[in-house]
Amino acid sequence: MTKRVINFSAGPSAIPLAVLEKAKEELLDYNGTGMSVMEMSHRSKEFTEIIEKTEAGLRENMAIPDDYEIIFIQGGASLQFAMVPMNLYEKGKPVNIIHTGLWTKKAIGELKNLTEYRIAASTEADGYRRLPSESEINIDKNASYLHIVSNNTVVGTQWKNFPKSGDVPLVADMSSDILSREIDVSKFGLIFAGAQKNIGPAGAAVVIIRRDLAERASEKLPIMMQYRTYIENKSLYNTPPTFTIYIMKLVMDWIKSQGGVKAIEKMNIQKADLLYNAIDESPFYQSPIAPEFRSLMNVVMRINRSEELESKFVKEADRAGLSGLKGHRLAGGIRASIYNALDINAVKKLIEFMKEFEKKNG
Ligand SMILES: Cc1ncc(COP(=O)(O)O)c(C=O)c1O
Repeated sequence: MTKRVINFSAGPSAIPLAVLEKAKEELLDYNGTGMSVMEMSHRSKEFTEIIEKTEAGLRENMAIPDDYEIIFIQGGASLQFAMVPMNLYEKGKPVNIIHTGLWTKKAIGELKNLTEYRIAASTEADGYRRLPSESEINIDKNASYLHIVSNNTVVGTQWKNFPKSGDVPLVADMSSDILSREIDVSKFGLIFAGAQKNIGPAGAAVVIIRRDLAERASEKLPIMMQYRTYIENKSLYNTPPTFTIYIMKLVMDWIKSQGGVKAIEKMNIQKADLLYNAIDESPFYQSPIAPEFRSLMNVVMRINRSEELESKFVKEADRAGLSGLKGHRLAGGIRASIYNALDINAVKKLIEFMKEFEKKNG
């Protein structure tokens, strides 16, 4: 029998088993074509149908309004750190950004080379262990846009209520919490996310953009750097990551089969509550993040600040079939990424292991 572990990795991360099984079933002969989706022309009738269904599935699952375009693009979420300012920055209107961790640091790194920008708030002085309060956020009224990261994958913080940016378009990097909770897309100018957490395998990113914003860019930008190229060509200007897009379609179908994002969100809250409660109830484990900022997706914990015990925990958990629990190298500790594909039983198994480990080492 195939051996499967419980995968708590931050990304690439677990994919629903039903999706992998469907992909396996169709791997050699997709829908009677006698070939794999991997081998198929991106211009074929079959693939056209796949990409259209992927888009329709995402639109339905996120209730994306009609005045928003969806594009599939390579370069991961990281390319968007440059592409967003290249397309959305307007001269004399500095980009504003709320600095909450490693992924805004990287976005700021690109802004330094590309545009004027201003940090509208920062929690760097607190090691990013919290998010700024409304009174700390100072947004320029004439900013080109405001950039935030909805869920900070490394430290484990997540915006519960998004900052209000008025007429300034809100741009959100949702790489690590897209499709994990219901959001009102109309509140955003642009949303982007790398696929490799809640959308599918690595190799693509999704950009959801209000149509009018895509028209801001100069037509002198490299063609592959303009959102309008992807919009006009339905993400088929060049060869897209076809197999990744196919798996994304299966993930969209799976989300629908679970009752949609509403049901997924309910489950995610239950999973996170169970895990944070187990941490809070124990004198052995600590969460470095105050309850109001805690991520439902990336649960970071420490063991009495003992790196030795943390490393032992990660190794023994791995041996017990609980994989990917090592914290990010910048944050240390233990991190359980409990994305959509992990069910409540995965969390229960982790808690069982935590209790056993505490008994032996506490
Ligand atoms: C919030 C966030 N933004 C951006 C990235 C970078 O994504 P990519 O590797 O697809 O460029 C990650 C990766 O983990 C992330 O968690």
